Amino acid sequence: MAPIHQSCSFLLITFMITIIGKPPLVAGIFRPSQWTLAHATFYGDETASATMGGACGYGNLFLNGYGTDTAALSSTLFNNGYACGTCYQIKCVQASACYGNVPYTTVTATNLCPPNWSEASDNGGWCNPPRTHFDMAKPAFMKIAQWKAGIVPVMYRRVPCVRRGGLRFSFQGNGYWLLVYLMNVGGGGDVSKMWVKGSRTGWISMSHNWGASYQAFATLRGQALSFRVTSYTTRETITAWNVAPANWAAGLTYSTPVNFH
Ligand SMILES: *[C@@H]1O[C@H](CO)[C@@H](O)[C@H](O)[C@H]1NC(C)=O
Repeated sequence: MAPIHQSCSFLLITFMITIIGKPPLVAGIFRPSQWTLAHATFYGDETASATMGGACGYGNLFLNGYGTDTAALSSTLFNNGYACGTCYQIKCVQASACYGNVPYTTVTATNLCPPNWSEASDNGGWCNPPRTHFDMAKPAFMKIAQWKAGIVPVMYRRVPCVRRGGLRFSFQGNGYWLLVYLMNVGGGGDVSKMWVKGSRTGWISMSHNWGASYQAFATLRGQALSFRVTSYTTRETITAWNVAPANWAAGLTYSTPVNFH
């Protein structure tokens, strides 16, 4: 699916550039970014247990499908949580610790690497603005470089997220306040806007809470819930009907076949 989709996107973009002479913003089409220089470190150990419960709110990354191919982003990249779920190809460059036969590895942003102002940005404060930095789960880092290097220069580019299955909605809150963590987002991987619709309400705009979570202050208990989601990067909006049944409950995760590609 993915290669076909990408080549279709490429053809369409080429076509559009031919017509109007500059790269267009076409809703629904995600283009990989240019390869850009940054640096990478790692956190946690080989079990990646320290990467669970990160600043995106994905909780247990094994249960929720992200595994150990994840990274914490410096705040410059994290964009107040709007970068949660975005995907990056990362390759180690210009260091003897690089595994030269590994073209790149792909990670999903699941956490924030916060600044530490008591360390200089070129000596430990790797995640201080304006640095673009990836603090990778150790197993992900070990795919591109010898971990003993500690920090390596990398080239990275944003790529579409290839996800198996549809969007996953993890519910918190109560019958009057719904907090939803959106997971397994394909395509751009990110979300700019969400709406919820109860079986007895219209579409209700949700506000960004933290990480990859959105909330609605509305009486939704006892109603089947549908969701509308807009991609931050592509601005495409998709609708997932009847994601949760009328007896939905906080603490449960609901899924839909619908996803971005
Ligand atoms: C920030 O850096 C200082 C100096 O290295 C260190 O003692 C401190 O633990 C760091 N803070 C955090 C939150 O990591």
